[in-house]
Amino acid sequence: MISMVVHGGAWDIPEDLIASHRDGVTRALRVGCAVLNDGGTAVDAVEAAIIIMEDDETFDAGRGSFINSAGDIEMDASIMNGENFRAGAIAAVSNVRNPITLARRIMEDSEHIVLVGMGAIRFAREHGVKTCGQDELITTRELDRWRKAQRRPNSSTRNAFRRKKVPVDTVGAVALDQYGNIASGTSSGGTPNKYPGRVGDSPLIGCGTYADNSVGGVSTTGWGEAMIKVVMAKTVIDLMDRNGNDPQKAASDGLKILERKAEGYGGIITLNNAGRVGIAYNTPRMVRAYMNSEMHQPIILV
Ligand code: GLY
Repeated sequence: MISMVVHGGAWDIPEDLIASHRDGVTRALRVGCAVLNDGGTAVDAVEAAIIIMEDDETFDAGRGSFINSAGDIEMDASIMNGENFRAGAIAAVSNVRNPITLARRIMEDSEHIVLVGMGAIRFAREHGVKTCGQDELITTRELDRWRKAQRRPNSSTRNAFRRKKVPVDTVGAVALDQYGNIASGTSSGGTPNKYPGRVGDSPLIGCGTYADNSVGGVSTTGWGEAMIKVVMAKTVIDLMDRNGNDPQKAASDGLKILERKAEGYGGIITLNNAGRVGIAYNTPRMVRAYMNSEMHQPIILV
């Protein structure tokens, strides 16, 4: 069995943005599955799928990331290999085109797991990961959104989150390869108009991303502060470990914990170690797509 699931955000996605979201996750899934079918590893597939969505300005990752209150982009990303528990992550990084690639380089070429800010950029330059100016990442859509936010300096993001109105286009992927290995990854520009230096759940291993070959893999999207409170990704893995490896029940039960303990919202994707998928969200919409070697067509849903 090879299997892959991807997501491109969970929120009240407006009608006029549905087609671009659907297209983005479809392309990401196709590229990731092609990697798996060609004998690539789960880590290769997760990186390849997330690069597609980072390069697609529809999503809050890479180009198209939300702009913080100081007018900068600060991106978060992580990747984890369930074969050996190795992981790599970056937080509050402004100048890379593909944060997931930098996270992978940290996982594979360093003794560390998380690098932030200028140290992460220094590591990127030393390891041949493409850096860029913020002009390559900032889009007109996000500049307009940021300008509007500057005119409402006292508006509460927390209340907007409670109304499920804050856009959450964080992207992620989980894959099972033909060697039986699971990998997970997540990439995000964070939340709109966030305080400079704010770090969400996406780069935190156990919160936004987790993978363990003996159980499964998880990636999350949603209100990061709430996800962090319940250590969302590892909580889902632990639930799955205890429930006989039922990924759908683990995702649904995990989401209930998020709601009950942190009043949080968002979405969860998971695969168990047999490649079965679980997806749960408590937002009006979540864009997600999955495929495995027993299926003839991918399932793409918004
Ligand atoms: N889940 C993405 C973030 O809150 O940063």
